[in-house]
Amino acid sequence: MDVNPRFKKLFEPGRIGQMALKNRIVMAATGTSLEREDGFVDDRIKDYYEERAKGGVGLIVMGIGAIDHPRGRVLPGQLGLSDDKFIPGLTEMAEAIHRHGAKVAIQLQRGGKLSTEDMAAGVQPLGPSVGSVPMSEVMQDMATTEIPRLMVRFAKMPAKMETIALTVEQIQEIVEKFAEAAERVKKAGIDGVEIHAGHGYLLSEFLSRSCNKRQDEYGGDLKGRARIVLEIIKAVREKVGMEYPVWCRIDGREFEIEDGITIEDGKELARLLEEAGVDAINVTGYAGPVGGFYDAPLVYPPGNLVSLAEGIKKVVKIPVIAVGRISAELGEEVLRQGKADLIAMARALVADPEFPNKIASGKMEDIRPCIYCYNCVAQAFWGEPVYCSVNAAAGKEAEFRIEPVERAKKVMVVGGGPAGMEAARVATLRGHEVMLYEKGRRLGGSLVFAAIVQSDNEGFLNYLITQMRKLPIKVKLGEEVTPALIEDIKPDVVILALGGNLVTPQIPGADRHNVISGKDLRQMMSDRLKRFLKPASVRRLTKYWMPLGKRVTIVGGDIVGCELAEFLTERGRKVTILESETDMNTEMSIPRRWNVMRWLRQNGVTMLKGVNYEEITSKGVIITNSDGEKQTIEADTVVLAGSVEPNVALSQAIEGKVPQICLVGDCTELRLINGAVEDGARIALTI
Ligand SMILES: Cc1cc2nc3c(=O)[nH]c(=O)nc-3n(C[C@H](O)[C@H](O)[C@H](O)COP(=O)(O)OP(=O)(O)OC[C@H]3O[C@@H](n4cnc5c(N)ncnc54)[C@H](O)[C@@H]3O)c2cc1C
Ligand SMILES: Cc1cc2nc3c(=O)[nH]c(=O)nc-3n(C[C@H](O)[C@H](O)[C@H](O)COP(=O)(O)O)c2cc1C
Ligand code: SF4
Repeated sequence: MDVNPRFKKLFEPGRIGQMALKNRIVMAATGTSLEREDGFVDDRIKDYYEERAKGGVGLIVMGIGAIDHPRGRVLPGQLGLSDDKFIPGLTEMAEAIHRHGAKVAIQLQRGGKLSTEDMAAGVQPLGPSVGSVPMSEVMQDMATTEIPRLMVRFAKMPAKMETIALTVEQIQEIVEKFAEAAERVKKAGIDGVEIHAGHGYLLSEFLSRSCNKRQDEYGGDLKGRARIVLEIIKAVREKVGMEYPVWCRIDGREFEIEDGITIEDGKELARLLEEAGVDAINVTGYAGPVGGFYDAPLVYPPGNLVSLAEGIKKVVKIPVIAVGRISAELGEEVLRQGKADLIAMARALVADPEFPNKIASGKMEDIRPCIYCYNCVAQAFWGEPVYCSVNAAAGKEAEFRIEPVERAKKVMVVGGGPAGMEAARVATLRGHEVMLYEKGRRLGGSLVFAAIVQSDNEGFLNYLITQMRKLPIKVKLGEEVTPALIEDIKPDVVILALGGNLVTPQIPGADRHNVISGKDLRQMMSDRLKRFLKPASVRRLTKYWMPLGKRVTIVGGDIVGCELAEFLTERGRKVTILESETDMNTEMSIPRRWNVMRWLRQNGVTMLKGVNYEEITSKGVIITNSDGEKQTIEADTVVLAGSVEPNVALSQAIEGKVPQICLVGDCTELRLINGAVEDGARIALTI
């Protein structure tokens, strides 16, 4: 296959030590909780990785292999590396990945203060020094609605728990365990090991002054703090030899951590690791478990960790791997500019395993893009399996495999939002004859508005619309489906993807001229968009436009209210959010919610929870606040963000008149993008 010349560098062969790679795209480690709790490989985790190997990636690094399984786990499910009994499963995994020409490695990892599985079992975690465990901090920081779920997982954890400082003998045992794990990995036919010395796990705690307070030879200056890692490399080399690929993942810098690792530490460490005989350095970053995710490691600003890789590349001769929201275009540029030798990606490949093949063949518009919702990684907080909002098959590859149907059916999809479009896409790929009806003038449904207020959603909107255009789907825009039309068309299956009914809070004065309902706001945005043809430009078009007053009060603090607040604040409005419940924005993934709430606070948005709405006047909203006091929140414009409720009138009207009726997405309950996509795909696979 001729490679798209735009990405020539990405598809040049790569190398780590003796390991030749077919290209320079690496799947960065993803600990998924798809792994079994007993540490053995099974079909589910094998399918997850094999799917990504099939998609054309050069190297897959499997996440957090537990060198001391079951101790030191940070997720319930981690692949075990602590016993020979795990070798046959790892061999099967290697064979599955090798079938597609990719190479495979696994991270050697042990948790310290983040060993949540130890804590959940009431076992005190280990660390370089006595120190606090951040889990209690995380629990305090969680919104109240999340605590019950956390409490289930950490029921046995005492309210206050500290790490125990490792003795030198215990350190030696851990060094040996790393080495034995590497030997098993090699025996299993896996191509290399990545020693995980970042992300707040045990080795990075030794490296970071913030955790390592030791006075002995394992503490002090960087050489002392790095001693355990250097000893591990030596012990690993003794077991696997000099030819076997061994490298390290390190934090080029710790963000938001007092006394954390600096880039100068990162550089010095890289030099020590090179001297000790590693074949490459994978440069990531860390920012603590509470709220820091957006800085590192799951960086939000595109390419924001590249400068760390670039800095380290200047001081070593071995290959350097860069990571952190790197797009194909940026990856190509980073390689061309010599800032790194290999480009690692995680979320792009969770969202679309075929990403490498699609960029190689120039099918950029077919890439299903990550929307940076952080739902995949939020699952780790509950120890539950990863899923992806835009890719229902992620982690459920077998369940969501698209197989051709024996008998094609006439399928009528009603509603052109994400649920309807995903159902239409999957049903068509299976061979059904699909018609998609949308009463509006454009496809997208509520996703259009979601893309306006949160630009990361826009790529997914465009992807779905493109698929509707490319696939043999009869799309009818501007046609509201009625029971009569359905009887007329006589489909075998009707998939109702109508979206929810918008509910507007009933507040005296809600009909005043200074009040805009969710429906009005959508109408205003739609009217504005009508003038423009390309959906790709929705956000740009609304950049300067917004016919709202200077002071805006949003009634309703769910995901929509909070995103709208962010959007309006960015456009110069002074925003207040009012919420009658005791918590806000509970639909968002934890890391994203932390970040959004922090941003709102830092940018002067007032957020009042647990309020009673009394009346809307020309001056604003009169409320009774959570202390029982009456208060007027002054506003030029009041937006009623409201919520959605099930929309079942059409399904009731056609009951018994069509062989099969299915409901998907928000018309059943608020399902958000992830639920809409999952429902759409699932139903299309069952008809
Ligand atoms: C401002 C805003 C921000 C949001 N932000 C996010 C976010 O960041 N993350 C997230 O996960 N979710 C977000 N959401 C929610 C998300 O957009 C919805 O949950 C999702 O779009 C639901 O998809 P759906 O296909 O079920 O319904 P919808 O997207 O509502 O689509 C339903 C479609 O059906 C059409 N329709 C209805 N009746 C008929 C009929 N009789 N005939 C023909 N067509 C019909 C409608 O016109 C509509 O286009 C946001 C929503 C809004 C409004
Ligand atoms: C679901 C998920 C699980 C992850 N698990 C690991 C892990 O086990 N080990 C690790 O070093 N990094 C892990 N990461 C971080 C990624 O390896 C990567 O550094 C990060 O996601 C930034 O890259 P991206 O922007 O391409 O996603 C994980 C990321 C995600 C999204
Ligand atoms: S769950 Fe969200 S952040 Fe994670 S890969 Fe999917 S779209 Fe991206």
